[in-house]
Formats: sequence, C-alpha cells, structure tokens
Amino acid sequence: MSATLRVEEHDTHVLATLDRPEKRNAIDQELVDALHALCARLEVERRTLVLTGAGGSFAAGADIAQLRERRAADALEGINTRCFQRIRALPMPVISVLDGYALGGGAELAYAADIRIGTPTLKIGNPETGLGIIAAAGATWRLPQIVGDALAAEMLLTGRILTADEALAAGLVSAVLEPEAALARATELAERIATLDPAATQATKRALLAPASAHPAIELSEQSVLFESDEKQRRMTEFLERRSRSTADDTERRSRSTADSTERKSQR
Ligand code: COA
Repeated sequence: MSATLRVEEHDTHVLATLDRPEKRNAIDQELVDALHALCARLEVERRTLVLTGAGGSFAAGADIAQLRERRAADALEGINTRCFQRIRALPMPVISVLDGYALGGGAELAYAADIRIGTPTLKIGNPETGLGIIAAAGATWRLPQIVGDALAAEMLLTGRILTADEALAAGLVSAVLEPEAALARATELAERIATLDPAATQATKRALLAPASAHPAIELSEQSVLFESDEKQRRMTEFLERRSRSTADDTERRSRSTADSTERKSQR
C-alpha cells in the first residue's frame, strides 16, 4: 500500500502502523495518501482499525519540511484535517496505541480515534503556535470534547505537552501500558468489538459523532432500525433461552441436592 504505512490484516481488525521511524513518523503527503486509501477500504469493508507507530513514536507531527512549503491555498484544502476527519468518521471503531511522541498533527490523529491507549513514554500535545501556525486538524474542537475546555485551552495556548500519567488523569488515554501490552490491549478490544453486533456498533458510533442538535432524534431513528433487525431478535432470544436453561439447571441442581441431603439424613 505504502512504504510508510504498514497494514496488517487480522480476523477481527486491521492494524496500521505509521512506519517512518527515522522521522519519528512525521505525517507527510505520502502517509496522508496511504491513510486515505486505507479509509476508502474500511468505509466499505467496515472493520475496526488499530493505529500505531513504529520505532517508539506514534507521530511527531505533520512533516515540518512539507508544512513550511505550504501556502494559503494548501491550508484551505485541509490536507491533514480532511484525512483525520475521514478516520474519525470510519464506520467501525478506531483504536490508537500511543507510544512516545504524539505531537501536533500526530496528536490530532490520536484525537480522531475513538479509544486511545498510551505507553509510559507518551508525550502528547500541540506545539503548533511555536511554529507560527494553529492546530487546525481537529485539536481546537476535538481536544475540548475529550479533556474539557480548560485543559484543552491550556494545552493549545501554551503548547503544554502531557506525560502519560497526565494524559491518563485527563482521560486522554484510557490506560497506560508497556508497548507490547498496549498493543495486546488494543487487540483484545478489537476482538471484543468483533463479538458485538456490527450494525449496533456502527449505529452507536454514528450517534456518538452526531452534533448536539441531532440528539435524541438520531438515537431513536437508529434504534428503530435495530429493533427490526434479525440479529437483535437472535441475540435477545439466545440470551433469554440461556437464562431459562440455566434457571432450569439451577432448579434441578437444587432439588437434587435437597434429595441427597434428605437421603443422607434418613441413612443416619
Ligand atoms: N516533521 C519533520 N521531521 C521531523 C518531525 C516533524 N514533525 N519530527 C521529527 N522529525 C525528524 C527530525 O528532523 C529528524 O530528522 P533528521 O534525522 O533528518 O535530522 C528526525 O525526525 C529525528 O528527530 P530528532 O529531533 O533528531 O529526534 P529526537 O528524538 O531528538 O526528538 C522530537 C524528537 C519529536 C522531540 C523532535 O523531533 C521534535 O521536536 N519534532 C517536532 C515536533 C513538532 O513540533 N511537531 C508539531 C508539528 S505540526
């Protein structure tokens, strides 16, 4: 697909690794193009995406060498913005595993994920104003949603970079684990998601992403579709039959043990 985006197929998900370690996985046009190509596939194939970076970094930002050459028209095109929004809007969940640097555009790519898992070396934040630009690929609207207005403003206005523990305390990552364990956790989550109803998962994601003005109408409309689905019928019937089977088993076990103890007493 691309020399800088390694894509591995798993039964339950796709694992995509930003693989430009000599540049701390800085996101250049080639990576953006590769991410678009991956999105085009996942919009149709509808699988969970696990995103990570090679060589001890997630991504140290957009590629500054390319950024320096970009002009007003490039800014208006929203090269990274459109790419990260497309990732955010993927029909199935996106999980990012954040090892080491997640800075600038790298942090914004992480904010686009639904679930973030950090490692102890994580350094995450937006130093853009120090480079004479703003964080225009999601941080100003997405970061406040994740960590709240106050911390988002502090991070974006001062360039404060959070450590792993700070990111965990702020809810920016849901766990901090050593790199292998972090990837294993992401895999477990993808496996768990794969046991759930994909239609319900996708409906949940659409509701989560909907603007405030769309609630609760969107939930009701999504639910009205799911209430008619064969899969809902199957899953609920299976649950109820399992319950009634286990209740019947319990009753039988209890009556057997009462009978046994009565027999023991009568033998004494
Ligand atoms: N864009 C382009 N190249 C980058 C980059 C970026 N965002 N981040 C790192 N690189 C390159 C460096 O230029 C260097 O390339 P070189 O070996 O050809 O000189 C290489 O990656 C390694 O970076 P280096 O700074 O030597 O590594 P380090 O481990 O000492 O420091 C960072 C890592 C992330 C702290 C440092 O590279 C950095 O500050 N990067 C920029 C972060 C940033 O401002 N991001 C926001 C951009 S919007």
